[in-house]
Amino acid sequence: MKVQNICCIGAGYVGGPTMAVIAKKCPDIKVTVVDINQERIAAWNDENVDNIPVYEPGLSAVVAEARGRNLFFSTDVDKAIDEAEMIFISVNTPTKTYGEGKGQAADLKWIELCARQIARVAKGDKIVVEKSTLPVRTASTLKDILTHTGDGLSFQILSNPEFLAEGTAVEDLMDPDRVLIGGDQTPEGLNAIQALVDVYARWVPKDKILTTNVWSSELSKLTANAYLAQRVSSINSLSELCEFTEADINEVARAIGTDSRIGPKFLKASVGFGGSCFQKDILNLVYISRSYGLNEVADYWEQVIIMNDHQKRRFAKKIIKNLYNTVSGKKIAFLGWAFKKDTNDTRESAAIYVADHLLNEQSFIETYDPKVKKEQVYTDLDYLGSRSSEENRKNLTVGTDPYKVCEGAHAVAVLTEWDEFKTYDWKRIYDGMLKPAHVFDGRNILDKEALRSIGFQVHAIGTAD
Ligand code: UDX
Ligand code: ADP
Repeated sequence: MKVQNICCIGAGYVGGPTMAVIAKKCPDIKVTVVDINQERIAAWNDENVDNIPVYEPGLSAVVAEARGRNLFFSTDVDKAIDEAEMIFISVNTPTKTYGEGKGQAADLKWIELCARQIARVAKGDKIVVEKSTLPVRTASTLKDILTHTGDGLSFQILSNPEFLAEGTAVEDLMDPDRVLIGGDQTPEGLNAIQALVDVYARWVPKDKILTTNVWSSELSKLTANAYLAQRVSSINSLSELCEFTEADINEVARAIGTDSRIGPKFLKASVGFGGSCFQKDILNLVYISRSYGLNEVADYWEQVIIMNDHQKRRFAKKIIKNLYNTVSGKKIAFLGWAFKKDTNDTRESAAIYVADHLLNEQSFIETYDPKVKKEQVYTDLDYLGSRSSEENRKNLTVGTDPYKVCEGAHAVAVLTEWDEFKTYDWKRIYDGMLKPAHVFDGRNILDKEALRSIGFQVHAIGTAD
């Protein structure tokens, strides 16, 4: 079967970039990305491609090339479903905030709504592709809804998990380490798998396209993220030990990273991992393990999250301790709010939790991030429900000039590793701050010696003060 029309439900961080690259690489396939959020679709359609809602290096050029040719953004979900032979589901699947599984299980409300909508609209057979990160066995839920409500049509469900990392999405999509496609091992399932393989094979070498059964594919996605997050928590756990022993975490990371069995990636100690995937996927793994009574398995992976929460909390505590055990009424400047550099995504960003802790201690915070909008910062803080939104607006402000943001501060804290922070005139920042002037480098990106020679008191993750 040759796919000519693809529809993607959900125009977010996954759906947008993925479809843009598919459209670029397959000019003969019509790709329509739909979303119920009109504002988001309007932004994807903005004449000026710099205003698209997802910031990713290289993405606006891809959108500029394909949009209007074979890439379309629309709010007409029904029409796109009807036209497509293959439908990707890329809607959000946040951790449940209510009821059974609260705080751990994924909320599949939006996935279920999509399935019902596909079943209602479809007039012919469809291949439905899970792109959102989902708990293992979601495909069976999808299949159940589709076959029971779908008018006797045939639906094949594929799992095609996303491995792109934000900030390098376009690069990761254009040249992936591998593409994983899981499906039923029946003749119909294998045909559906082949149809999707043929899409990717336009630009991905065949040996990098792995096919599996649907459950292996779903579980592999959770496992990949759990392994990566575990590396970050492992190095972060040792960063604390370094701060007490005068070992240097950067040296330790270099020493172990050159062991080819360990490898150099994901060994950067930080203020804690964030992003929409790591925590959610591990929680899914923990939840599903516990639901099968596998408590040791669940505890093992849960520790990765416990370590990460500890790392965020201890960064905030370190600031407080060094400011004479009180930050009440003191201004702290935050450089960075995104969960990593080169993205405007802030989901689960360590900055949110560090800010929350400091605000509880009555500090005043001013933040600067090159790509995150002011309203997003407040949305993130308000979501925690720690205090009223008026209080959040009173005690935290969002600046647009990093030098002004640092003016009059007792301390500057680096929360995101944006490259531009390294190039600032730190003498100018020092001159504008209260003394002693502290820098807390949560990403180990600044030149400690240079800062110390200016006069700063420098505290970096994983090195003794
Ligand atoms: C991750 C996976 O990498 C990707 O394959 C999957 O599809 C989605 O989840 P993403 O969340 O975009 O991607 O970013 P990633 O680069 O993995 O970073 C996650 C977090 O870990 C960030 O907060 C980052 O700052 C932190 N991190 C990463 C570290 O603290 N140290 C490191 O060495 C690497
Ligand atoms: P991700 O990082 O997984 O892409 P996002 O939150 O960035 O997550 O994007 C998910 C998108 O899915 C949002 O823009 C949301 O409006 C959209 N969405 C959720 N449910 C539906 C639905 N039933 N139909 C269409 N779009 C939906």
